[in-house]
Amino acid sequence: MRHLLDTQGLAREDALRILDVAEDMADTQRREIKKLPTLRGKTVVNLFFEDSTRTRISFEAAAKRLSADVINFSAKGSSVSKGESLQDTAQTLQAMGADAVVIRHGASGAPRTLATSGWISAGVVNAGDGTHEHPTQALLDAFTIRKRRFGDDSRGRDLDGVKVTIVGDVLHSRVARSNVWLLNTLGARVTLVAPPTLVPQDVSTWPADVLYDLDDAIAAGPDALMMLRIQLERMNAAYFPTEREYSRRWGLDARRLDALGADSIVMHPGPMNRGLEISAEAADSPRSTVLEQVANGVSVRMAALYLLLAGTEPSTADTPPATDAAVGTEKENTR
Ligand code: NCD
Repeated sequence: MRHLLDTQGLAREDALRILDVAEDMADTQRREIKKLPTLRGKTVVNLFFEDSTRTRISFEAAAKRLSADVINFSAKGSSVSKGESLQDTAQTLQAMGADAVVIRHGASGAPRTLATSGWISAGVVNAGDGTHEHPTQALLDAFTIRKRRFGDDSRGRDLDGVKVTIVGDVLHSRVARSNVWLLNTLGARVTLVAPPTLVPQDVSTWPADVLYDLDDAIAAGPDALMMLRIQLERMNAAYFPTEREYSRRWGLDARRLDALGADSIVMHPGPMNRGLEISAEAADSPRSTVLEQVANGVSVRMAALYLLLAGTEPSTADTPPATDAAVGTEKENTR
């Protein structure tokens, strides 16, 4: 794998390979010493042009646990705020010897531009671009669903027939887009639920059903209900009458939580607007996988960085070495 830019173009076997390597990474994260020597000498740059807490920290933790050197570059307070272009920034990183660049950007397509421009030779990971995609989020979501369903027996399995319902601000959500593509590739059945104003115009071309009524969607018995954050910062108009009205019709409250099937899970990528799209009861209930998603995010990002960077000189090989080598022996692990 050379870059990880989207899930729309991610083949089933590549997605499963990332999820399976993430299982191995998760196993190592249960050890007392979590650090592996795998990416010693490699440099990962976190290039964040948009605010982020958990995604940036997650990539940082993932890179550090693989012993890579991490440079955090956030656009605020950098030369970008003085008008430096993406090209100049990229060329600076290239001159510093970055092996991988993890980029979050407000413009859809910025990671692809970086990957295909020829400005850098580093592998590029999309950490969220505009309303386009957020592939590692979808991968960690799929990992979480698979883990809840199959436990220690998850490796090699896809999500055939699993019903996933994604609720809320689909229009502005790169998380929803990446999930729709990946879940479909893995065999899941995806339903989107949103007010008509928050459904994208081209949704008929997506491999997903659309409903407007959350109670109807819950009655259909989803295995996973994924609540999306209302992205007020991307809204330049009034998409719903009031927040109260939104949460009454599309929020996950205690009554709807009770109506879910015994084994269904409640997901949210964070950050949550408690009381708007999700109630505190739902967010903190045993059905909620919110914190599992955060923990799994580190394993999935370790897997992605590993597949991009390890054992590839130059970093273009498609096949990773055996997983044992990926996670190191116990002895290496304590070095
Ligand atoms: C998501 C994002 O930034 O796209 N959050 C995240 O990565 N943890 C979703 C969101 O901001 O609502």
